[in-house]
Amino acid sequence: MTGAATGAVIRPIREADLAGYLACLDRVARERIYLAFAEAPSPEQVQSFLGQMIRRGLPFVVAEHEAAIVGWCDIFAAADSGQRPGFGHVGRLGMGLDEGHRRQGLGEAMLRAVLDLTAGCNIERVELEVYASNEPAIALYRKFGFETEGTRRRARKLDGRYDDILMMARLRPPQM
Ligand SMILES: CC(C)(COP(=O)(O)OP(=O)(O)OC[C@H]1O[C@@H](n2cnc3c(N)ncnc32)[C@H](O)[C@@H]1OP(=O)(O)O)[C@@H](O)C(=O)NCCC(=O)NCCS
Repeated sequence: MTGAATGAVIRPIREADLAGYLACLDRVARERIYLAFAEAPSPEQVQSFLGQMIRRGLPFVVAEHEAAIVGWCDIFAAADSGQRPGFGHVGRLGMGLDEGHRRQGLGEAMLRAVLDLTAGCNIERVELEVYASNEPAIALYRKFGFETEGTRRRARKLDGRYDDILMMARLRPPQM
């Protein structure tokens, strides 16, 4: 999909990426800073999530460098069902990169790629939660038009430190 100056490639995720994606997710989770979990969910849970994302054509890209998955960015949307109608246009964004691959333009390239893909699946509102201490991510989201809609104060207390959670969202026209 996209080449980057770093030699990494941004491309849609495939079923065969399960192990690489799981490992990357686990590495970023174990930093205990940026994500809501401190290790990756089970392989079965991740496989089920990945299968659903691919089957439903939801936006999901990875950054691949020398045959290893070093980052991901996805937008999950609940299926607009008869039981819970009215939310099919809302997507929830998650992303991360291995530490050694940050600050080289890959986050921006992945985010641009998934936002471009939202048009094809009618996602109009993309929302996310980010720790207030995560200045790099907040700056990236703002750069793409995400706005803070609220703050969950002292929402996390981990390793003796509190952090607020910002709720951010980006709307694409038509805005109603
Ligand atoms: C957030 C993250 C995905 C950004 O990706 P990245 O590849 O490092 O960012 P890029 O190099 O593409 O930079 C794009 C923009 O992000 C912002 N940014 C990235 N790193 C930054 C930093 N260290 N300080 C301030 N702004 C930063 C800037 O706005 C930058 O634009 P600029 O180059 O014009 O200043 C990456 O830092 C990461 O994976 N962090 C850990 C996991 C995480 O936080 N996930 C998000 C959870 S909500």
